[in-house]
Amino acid sequence: MGKTLILGQTLAFVADPFHAPVAEAARHERRGGVLVEAGRIAALGTADELRAAHPGARVVDHGDALICAGFVDAHAHYPQTAIIASWGKRLIDWLNTYTFPEEMRFGDPAYAAEVAARYFDLTLANGTTTVCSYCTSHPESVDAYFTEAERRGLRAVGGKTCMDRNAPEGLCDTPARAYDESRALLQRWHGTGRLVYAITPRFSPTSSSAQLEALGALWAEHPDCPMQTHLSEQTDEIAWARSLFPEARDYLDTYEAFGLLGPGAVYGHAIHLEPREKDRLAEVDAALVHCPTSNTFIGSGIFDTAGLTARGLRIGLATDTGGGSSFSMLRTMAAAYELGQLNGGALHPAQLMWLATSGSARALRLEDRIGNLAVGMEADLAVLDLASTPAIAQRAARAEDFWETLFPTIMMGDDRAMRAVWAGGAQVI
Ligand code: GUN
Ligand code: ZN
Repeated sequence: MGKTLILGQTLAFVADPFHAPVAEAARHERRGGVLVEAGRIAALGTADELRAAHPGARVVDHGDALICAGFVDAHAHYPQTAIIASWGKRLIDWLNTYTFPEEMRFGDPAYAAEVAARYFDLTLANGTTTVCSYCTSHPESVDAYFTEAERRGLRAVGGKTCMDRNAPEGLCDTPARAYDESRALLQRWHGTGRLVYAITPRFSPTSSSAQLEALGALWAEHPDCPMQTHLSEQTDEIAWARSLFPEARDYLDTYEAFGLLGPGAVYGHAIHLEPREKDRLAEVDAALVHCPTSNTFIGSGIFDTAGLTARGLRIGLATDTGGGSSFSMLRTMAAAYELGQLNGGALHPAQLMWLATSGSARALRLEDRIGNLAVGMEADLAVLDLASTPAIAQRAARAEDFWETLFPTIMMGDDRAMRAVWAGGAQVI
């Protein structure tokens, strides 16, 4: 495979803009380029420098569009694609009314394959090059997900969603089946191409102590796999978890007691945290994933982005499709901005872009491979048209600097803003 020189504006991060001034953390090149070779970023620089240094490279010029890292959606449920935007319920009712009946269908490999293909069509159209998705409890749903991701050359994270109580019989496994099926799937898919297996208990209300213990044992045997689950999303859910585990000190303890807390743990939502939970999460260097469109759509509450990033926790950003109301990480950034305002602080556009790329990659411990433009990283890129609609174009035309040009696309953009998408060094959109 030869060299490809992709030209446009470029945005890269050399530091975390929650912990360094934006001017030091972000590098914007008005006329920049990314040299791609063998699926990785081989060089970055100005368009002129790169053209001169690599005269034989194939050139793809995206004009004044913005080349950034492909978006990383750190928490999603691909099996909920067809029930996104289902009306009128809060978490537990929403699961029982819409989610569980739909997830029952994924024992059918043909249906799972159809939805997996549709899901990756939608996420790629929105510039998302990596998703970390829950599958259903059916191994077929995991095979469908990874088969489709592999076919498209995507880096993807996912796992079988384990449940053995408080869910329909057709979705429940047992402690032994959760362990055995997760282990077989892990052995089949983890490290195959660009795929990563995540050990996935759904949340403590749908797992018995024995099942959590079995999955804790599996994680101890495979500590290089991430472990994902849900934590403290809604107050009713927390009360339910506490009543099911009366001996637990708090919600996090329902995981901690069974070996499901540690580095590599990725907790979705984490809205209503107790001081002890925050301390333990920071102590073990676990990751939290902010799902803002879901938190407003299901009515869960406001994630404390400013407070939790200030503690140095690994924080990712995610759609939480289909509890979230969009497949777009641009819409998700806009929702994170709005919730930040309600929480007393405006997130800078650099912080929003960082969360949607490097922050999510860091939450998944993939920050050395994806989520940024840097030499040696995998060449997953989103190329954004910063004037994709009349409303955005007229606002961007007034902008006085780069961030003011980008912010209208963050707030009002969607899949129409994707001029191109690259995955593993190949243009896929
Ligand atoms: N908690 C347990 N399962 C789910 C789910 O599928 N979506 C959301 N938003 N929260 C959950
Ligand atoms: Zn979720």
